[in-house]
Amino acid sequence: MKEIEASISSCDDLKELEKLRVSLFGKKGYFAGQFAKMKTVSNEEKKDFAQNLNTNKEHFLALLSEKKLHLEAEAIAYEMKKDGVDVTLFNSVSEEGALHPVMDTMDKIIEYFVSMNFSIEEGPLVEDDFHNFEALNLPKYHPARDMQDTFYFEDSMLLRTHTSPVQIRTMLKEKPPIRMICPGAVFRRDYDLTHTPMFHQVEGLVVGKSGEVSFANLKYILEDFLKYMFGDVEVRFRPSFFPFTEPSTEVDISCIFCKGDGCRVCSHTGWLEVLGSGYVDENVFKAVGYEDVSGYAFGLGVERFAMLLHKIPDLRSLFEGDLRLLEQFR
Ligand code: DAH
Repeated sequence: MKEIEASISSCDDLKELEKLRVSLFGKKGYFAGQFAKMKTVSNEEKKDFAQNLNTNKEHFLALLSEKKLHLEAEAIAYEMKKDGVDVTLFNSVSEEGALHPVMDTMDKIIEYFVSMNFSIEEGPLVEDDFHNFEALNLPKYHPARDMQDTFYFEDSMLLRTHTSPVQIRTMLKEKPPIRMICPGAVFRRDYDLTHTPMFHQVEGLVVGKSGEVSFANLKYILEDFLKYMFGDVEVRFRPSFFPFTEPSTEVDISCIFCKGDGCRVCSHTGWLEVLGSGYVDENVFKAVGYEDVSGYAFGLGVERFAMLLHKIPDLRSLFEGDLRLLEQFR
């Protein structure tokens, strides 16, 4: 017995341990033999014999299982060491990382609006029809709901196509005055030089009592914001259409590449379109139960800002993770 104990304790291999186990507990093993002997033991001795045998059995089972756990832990540690990375290893040529240009641009945008006392709101990426479309005055037949534009789930749930639903969520949750932005990811079924299925937007909304928030306020904030982002540019407001604003305007800056003279980037117009905005449509206020209020909203694509700020020609390169691009932002 002592010998077997010694060979278990010195065993350093799981296969060997299994052999030992079989020699003890297998069909032809030691204990099977001992139990078979029971028949030949006299009745008086039977009880002691069996008790002794069971104690021994428990003892060896415990020894085996303890050893097994130990060897398995050792094997796992060995495998991890073999394939793993030693994060404590000193690397004299380690390089500094950097924020991705999209996140860096997002930070700069947020920085401006926080300094102007806007709160930051968030909403779910999986939205329902009401928040993403209906409440924003985008009725059932509106082309923006095309299967080609939107990723749908069952039960009219969808991946939000813009950050505008967060306007709705915020207005349903809070009373005016509201002064918020919502930065976040949005999704559309698009993929080419200037479109990716996921991109980022920043939405803005300001609501006050009727007559308290004017179009002039909107013009001031956006002009100031665009100068903060792009430096000394001219800003122009062009009449446009969005279902959730009336009147609506698109906002252009003078081309930062040719300073307005006309080049390929601005299609020789001298202007670059950078965001959409407008005075919040009455129907949107109605949908959230607001009365006697006025407000403005705006929305912008963060990737577009990042591309202009860093002169990146292909939107898709922002999502390919190519280090040759990312290394330039250290
Ligand atoms: N939601 C629009 C889009 O995704 C962007 C936008 C335009 C938001 C005008 C606004 C706005 O709040 O007033 O294209």
